[in-house]
Amino acid sequence: MLDGLHLGTTVRGAKRSLHYVKDAVSARVLWGWTPLVPEDAFAECSSGAIRALKNQGHGPFGTYLEFGVSRGTSLAAMHHALEREGLTHVPLVGFDSFQGMPREAQQQGWLPGQYHSTISATRKYLQTKGVNADRVRLIEGWFKDTLTQDTVTRLGLTKASLIMVDCDIYSASREALWFCEPLIDDMAVIFFDDWGWRADINEVGQRDAFADFLSAFPTLSAEALPTYLPQARVFLVKRQVAQAGRKREQASAAADRTRNAQFRARRVFGGVTDRYKI
Ligand SMILES: C[S@@+](CC[C@H](N)C(=O)[O-])C[C@H]1O[C@@H](n2cnc3c(N)ncnc32)[C@H](O)[C@@H]1O
Repeated sequence: MLDGLHLGTTVRGAKRSLHYVKDAVSARVLWGWTPLVPEDAFAECSSGAIRALKNQGHGPFGTYLEFGVSRGTSLAAMHHALEREGLTHVPLVGFDSFQGMPREAQQQGWLPGQYHSTISATRKYLQTKGVNADRVRLIEGWFKDTLTQDTVTRLGLTKASLIMVDCDIYSASREALWFCEPLIDDMAVIFFDDWGWRADINEVGQRDAFADFLSAFPTLSAEALPTYLPQARVFLVKRQVAQAGRKREQASAAADRTRNAQFRARRVFGGVTDRYKI
C-alpha cells in the first residue's frame, strides 16, 4: 500500500518522466515549436547590420557565425537577410550542443536541456524555410569541445563579419566571444539575444561576458546599433586599424596553413572610435 510519502515521490517521478517525454518529443517534431527569436524583426535588423558594415567600407564579407542555433529560427532569418542584401556567397556556421542548455545553466537561471532541438529536426526546419543547405554547416557539441583551433582549420575560417551570440548564459557567451576574437578583422557586427533581461534576478550573463571581452581585447571598441527586441543588443565592433592589418596577415597565414593541410589531406586520402561603455 502507498503511504503519503511514497505517493508524493511517485507523483513527482511521474511528472518528471512526463516532462522528459514532452521535451524529447518537442526536440524532434516540427509542429508546435514556438520560435525563440522574432523572425521578421531579426531579419530586418540583420539587413540593417549588413548595410551598416557596407557603409563603413567593410568587405569582402566573412562567415556568419551563430552560437546557439536550437531549431534554427535566427539562422534562417540571417540566411534570408544575406540573400536580400546580395551576399549569396557568405557561408553560415551554427554551433549548438543540440542537447539544449548545458548543466551549468542551472546556476545561471536557465534549465539544463532547455531549447533542445535535434540536429536532424533543425536541418528539416531549415529546409522548410528555404535555406540553401550548401551554405550552412551545423557543428554539434558543447562549445568547450567544438570551439577550437582544429575547428577553425577544418572549416577554413579566416574571418567573421556577423556573429550571433544566442547561448544566453555567461560561460557559453564567453566561450563564443573568445573563439571569435581572432576572426574579427577590421570590424564585425555582434548580436546578443539575452542582454541581461532578467537583471532583477541578477541575470546579466551576456552583458558581463561582453564587458569582459572588451576589457580583454582593448584594440576592440563597440558602438550600439538598432536592436530587434528590448532585451537584445547589437554592436558594431571595430578593431584599431594597425591591428586590423596584422589580423589580416595572420588570417591569410592561417588560410595558407588550411589550404596546405587540405592539400596534404587530399594527397593522402584522395567606430566608430569610442569604446562602448557598459
Ligand atoms: C535560446 S537557444 C538559441 C535560439 C536560436 N538562436 C533560435 O533562433 O531559435 C540557446 C541555444 O544555446 C545552446 N547552448 C547553450 N550553451 C551551450 C554550450 N555551452 N554549448 C553548446 N550549445 C549551447 C543550447 O543548446 C540552445 O539550443
